[in-house]
Amino acid sequence: MPNRDYHQERRDYEFAELNRSALNSNPFAQFSAWMDQAVQQKIMDPTAMSVSTVSANGQPHSRVVLLKAFAEDGFVFYSHYDSAKGMQIETNNQVALLFFWPEMDRQIRIEGTISKIPLEQSEHYFQSRPRDSQLSAYISQQSKAVKNRAELEGNLANATEDFAGEDIPHPPHWGGYKVTPTLFEFWQGRPSRLHDRFQFSQPKNQQAWTIERLAP
Ligand SMILES: Cc1cc2nc3c(=O)[nH]c(=O)nc-3n(C[C@H](O)[C@H](O)[C@H](O)COP(=O)(O)O)c2cc1C
Repeated sequence: MPNRDYHQERRDYEFAELNRSALNSNPFAQFSAWMDQAVQQKIMDPTAMSVSTVSANGQPHSRVVLLKAFAEDGFVFYSHYDSAKGMQIETNNQVALLFFWPEMDRQIRIEGTISKIPLEQSEHYFQSRPRDSQLSAYISQQSKAVKNRAELEGNLANATEDFAGEDIPHPPHWGGYKVTPTLFEFWQGRPSRLHDRFQFSQPKNQQAWTIERLAP
């Protein structure tokens, strides 16, 4: 394969600026304002976020999931508790989230700790999902090796038959996680690579957020 060279791939970031005076002093409110704008702009998948976990040997792992809810107590997504990420979370509850919205030249970094949400909340959301999604969650052994696609399709066909005319029960291996942030960073791309960056950090056991502008 020939070498590829992307050194000349570049664009300017001119969508907006982020000033200290316009920044909300509550990072959740700031996140909310940016998320509202992202939804209004109809950008692709504004709720898609990278979740990074770290396994016992210190190896980081990242993957995209969909944010389903957020409030001042955290950011919620759903997954398989016995997946690779689930195992990593069991050994290390420190995680990082990342949103990248290229249409708006924005990146949001969030760091914090993760925990499972209450079972009833997972059950409630599971019951609201489309039947196909419920069945896929029910049969999937996420992150395990499978022989081929036919195996997956066969498992889905069997479950479809087994549950014909019945509700799909919430499988205990599937549910929500909530990330409780201790750090946020809002990044707004600017011309000449002089980007705006504001970091909110929360010293241990303190409610108040420290806000700093960071060098790009
Ligand atoms: C746009 C997008 C959305 C996704 N949403 C989810 C999700 O909400 N939950 C989930 O478990 N996996 C989701 N995935 C799949 C994950 O990226 C990943 O493949 C899966 O969770 C297994 O990760 P793991 O083996 O590291 O545990 C999504 C992938 C993409 C690209």
